[in-house]
Amino acid sequence: MKSRVLPFKAKVVEPIRLLGRQERQERIEKAGLNLFRLDAEDVYIDLLTDSGTGAISVAQLGRMMEGDESYAGSRSFRRLEKEVQGTFNLPYVLPVHQGRAAERILNSTIVGPGQYVPGNSHFDTTKAHIEYARGRCVDLTIEEGRSSTINHPFKGNIDLEQLKHFIVEHGVESIAYILMTITCNSGGGQPVSMENLDAVKEICRAHQLPLFIDAARFAENAYFINQREPGFSDSSITDIIHQMFDGVDGLTMSSKKDAISPMGGLLVVRDQELFTKLRTPVILFEGYVTYGGISGLMMESLAQGLREVKEFSYLDYRIGQVTDFGEMLQQTAGGIPIVEPVGGHAIFVDARRFFPKVPEDQFPAQMLCVELYRQGGIRGVEVGACLAGRNPDTGENLRPPLDLCRLTIPRRVYFKEHFEYVAEVLGQIKERCGERTTGLKFKVEAPGIRHFDSTFEYIS
Ligand code: F0G
Repeated sequence: MKSRVLPFKAKVVEPIRLLGRQERQERIEKAGLNLFRLDAEDVYIDLLTDSGTGAISVAQLGRMMEGDESYAGSRSFRRLEKEVQGTFNLPYVLPVHQGRAAERILNSTIVGPGQYVPGNSHFDTTKAHIEYARGRCVDLTIEEGRSSTINHPFKGNIDLEQLKHFIVEHGVESIAYILMTITCNSGGGQPVSMENLDAVKEICRAHQLPLFIDAARFAENAYFINQREPGFSDSSITDIIHQMFDGVDGLTMSSKKDAISPMGGLLVVRDQELFTKLRTPVILFEGYVTYGGISGLMMESLAQGLREVKEFSYLDYRIGQVTDFGEMLQQTAGGIPIVEPVGGHAIFVDARRFFPKVPEDQFPAQMLCVELYRQGGIRGVEVGACLAGRNPDTGENLRPPLDLCRLTIPRRVYFKEHFEYVAEVLGQIKERCGERTTGLKFKVEAPGIRHFDSTFEYIS
């Protein structure tokens, strides 16, 4: 493992503590073996999400002090607007309180009943908002993106042939727009190549279909293009980002990821007419169009975060840290089975391979999350059979292709020692419990989005 150059040092720290084994046992039992139901202060290393959990910089904090809380036309909004326009080369900027607010407003405005939105692994909230607008998602991610072991530099790519075929088969009028998610969260932050994006733009132009981007992790995607795609190693991150967004119709963004902000989202479009249409729902659901549900203070943090996230030294450290953690796990206890190659913001442990003797419908990934907490005070999140839910028509449990425990890495928060600790705990769990033959069952299965509120018990 090569040594990394970290472009920051700690100035303010937040204490964390590791509870004793007995206390952890009591806490997780009280939480019904559901990690969402734990109090954060009872968690030692929190890898639940990279959303809103990054460490802010001194420059962000400084600018937050300058936050202008004027209701309309604040200085903070004007600064944010300028930063966003410069980042994406798109003119019309609407702040919103977080990513899903942008999704709700965009989809309720441009998706007609029964219309399709083809894309590459839509994120859960995005899919839910498209369906809420009575649209339908079509996932056309390339085949390689669905496997945990096939190595491909851009597993987030869309299958171009399938996309063309879909458009011809269903007709342009049945499609609301095409959505590209960069990077793909569902596969662990797998990037999309510039070649693939360019080809999608060409297809959209030929059929006069709008193209939108879910830009939650746009800078991480740009870094992967710089590192992995031939012809881009000498391009700056800013130039790559401009090329990525050149010709697209707009973007939705959760600014809690690649704007390293505790809160905030963006809805940004190229067309003035669409901008005019979107203003009313923003005012109805979020707030006036120059603050959209976030404070002047948060707009300053967001604008500064957008600037910092594009720095090469930051991205090199960020993606390097995730890569190193993945390598560390592969060298632990004969190899912890993870999704490869490692993406931008998380490591996914393949729980069916981790607990090969536990039946697939006994929630091996949820059990791994529980064991990580019980044995090490670590919080990950299940992205597998529990999250997948049931088929709304038949009521049967859906069985996703992979049952994963996601270890998500907050930005600028944890150091190498934290990851060494996580690797050690995972190694111990593999050695002590890898041969287990039984898993978990529901105690109470929450209706709808069962991930957050269901409770479980051990089968044996
Ligand atoms: N799009 C992507 C790709 C996301 O990863 C998320 C959130 C959203 C949209 C929604 O944004 O949370 O600000 O409303 N992902 C978080 C996660 C929740 O943990 O992966 P939001």
